[in-house]
Amino acid sequence: MKKWFAVIGDPIAHSKSPNMHNMWFEAMNIDATYIPIHVKPEQLEQSITSLKTLGASGWNITIPHKQAIIPFLDELDELAEKMGAVNTVVRLPDGKLKGYNTDGPGFVHSLEEKVGKDHKAKKVLLIGAGGAARGIAFALQQFGYNDLTITNRTTQKAEAIISEIGSGQAVSLQEAEQHLNQYGIIIQCTSAGLAQSEFSLPLSLDKLQEGAIVADIVYNPLMTPFLVEAQKNKAIVVNGLGMFVHQGAIAFHHWLGQYPDTNGMTKKLTAELE
Ligand code: ATR
Repeated sequence: MKKWFAVIGDPIAHSKSPNMHNMWFEAMNIDATYIPIHVKPEQLEQSITSLKTLGASGWNITIPHKQAIIPFLDELDELAEKMGAVNTVVRLPDGKLKGYNTDGPGFVHSLEEKVGKDHKAKKVLLIGAGGAARGIAFALQQFGYNDLTITNRTTQKAEAIISEIGSGQAVSLQEAEQHLNQYGIIIQCTSAGLAQSEFSLPLSLDKLQEGAIVADIVYNPLMTPFLVEAQKNKAIVVNGLGMFVHQGAIAFHHWLGQYPDTNGMTKKLTAELE
């Protein structure tokens, strides 16, 4: 029987997930389909009942439901539980719903696809302390990147994540800027990166270490003002598209037990965005 999957969110029209998963199904000869469903916050509970009744094998959850969905799930993966946010639901063979979070692991897979796995001992600077930064911070710890500093406009929020993780340190944006040359990996996780002007840089990159790895989680545009600036300073840049592709690939693996082609998909989507 044909399997089906979905992504629920509000708004949802912009989502690139249906296109990506349907391309993977086709390339891998999997008899399945993936559809976007517009679900407003007040419709969340009803939508889960419908997804179950109509036999969805699994689905992704995007803004604004990643936390609100948790009470409707039967089980949570350890990382999703720590993060208090779910972006992937799997319907288990017994009908129970299990929640995962593949956003943070997706970031780490993307980073490692680009630069390899030999950078775990480097000092990592995470800029931002919202939901996206939190997920990445937990995933970095899980994957063995243990020397973590978080900086944020509101420093208390960075401190809160560090105390939840139980290691690392929080510093102000000014301190991070002054000591930027210490960091071998810098990850831009604020929404400041979305605006297309040099004034939107969350911090100055003047003191960047030569050869530092600089990543952004924003993928549209592929080269954010932050990455453009980093490249001028001779950094190895990692754009946000890989994180999107890998969060989808890990979800795909949870659903179907096999990994889709992330490299080819990243190239295909890059060509669409350029
Ligand atoms: P997300 O879920 O995408 O992480 P969020 O939870 O709204 O979004 O978090 C946005 C992040 O961007 C926060 O770290 C925020 O800083 P504050 O915690 O101080 O609000 C950061 N941010 C947004 N606009 C910014 C700006 N103009 N300069 C610096 N940081 C900014």
